[in-house]
Amino acid sequence: MVAGLKTLVFISALVPATRLVVLALTGGDLTANPIEYITRDTGWYALFFLTLTLTVTPIRRLTGWHPVIRFRRMLGLFAFFYGTLHLLVWIVLDRFFDAEAMGEDILKRPFITVGMTTFLLLLPLAITSTSGWIRRLGGRRWARLHQLAYLAAVTAVLHFWWLVKSDVREPYRWGWAVAVLLGARMWWSWQAGRSSRS
Ligand code: HEM
Repeated sequence: MVAGLKTLVFISALVPATRLVVLALTGGDLTANPIEYITRDTGWYALFFLTLTLTVTPIRRLTGWHPVIRFRRMLGLFAFFYGTLHLLVWIVLDRFFDAEAMGEDILKRPFITVGMTTFLLLLPLAITSTSGWIRRLGGRRWARLHQLAYLAAVTAVLHFWWLVKSDVREPYRWGWAVAVLLGARMWWSWQAGRSSRS
């Protein structure tokens, strides 16, 4: 059952990217500003999958359904996949590989600096997501490294918050979701520490 569900999640997660490719190839409606539209769409899905990855452990704890953990790597890799598409759109379509303009953006526009930081936080996690890397690093070190996902979620929300000009309602909602998910983890680990001391 889990294998079937994983296939379903995998196919569903590819739908947004496929939709963009189809719209681009068929001259579909990508609005008056297609680059901005694709950048926003891929950025939104990167944040969506990153946040979804953080829901896996709470779902397992609250429902006791342990196989849900088998979805975590795939969801995390989809966050990286959409984050990479998002970055590539910016490099190729927005900045036309202009290294100087990109360097200036990264240094001088805080929301780009934070977006790039988010991408760089996700990169080592994607690289070390394989079982081989878990073995090489050892479970404890691997788990510690993968706590960078928490920081990435915070910087992703900050990136969104910073780029929005006036209406901050959506980044605010994501901020709440991430705060609740990270708060629950902190609460559980504090409780675990307390019960191991007593
Ligand atoms: C992988 C980590 C990243 C995540 C999770 C992320 C997330 C987002 C989100 C949620 C949005 C807004 C989408 C919306 O309006 O609905 C966005 C927009 C944007 N992001 Fe990112 N981003 C990431 C990395 C980056 C990087 C590395 C860059 C460039 C160096 C970048 C540049 C932009 C730009 C230019 C916009 C559109 C700004 C505008 O609408 O004027 N992002 N991103």
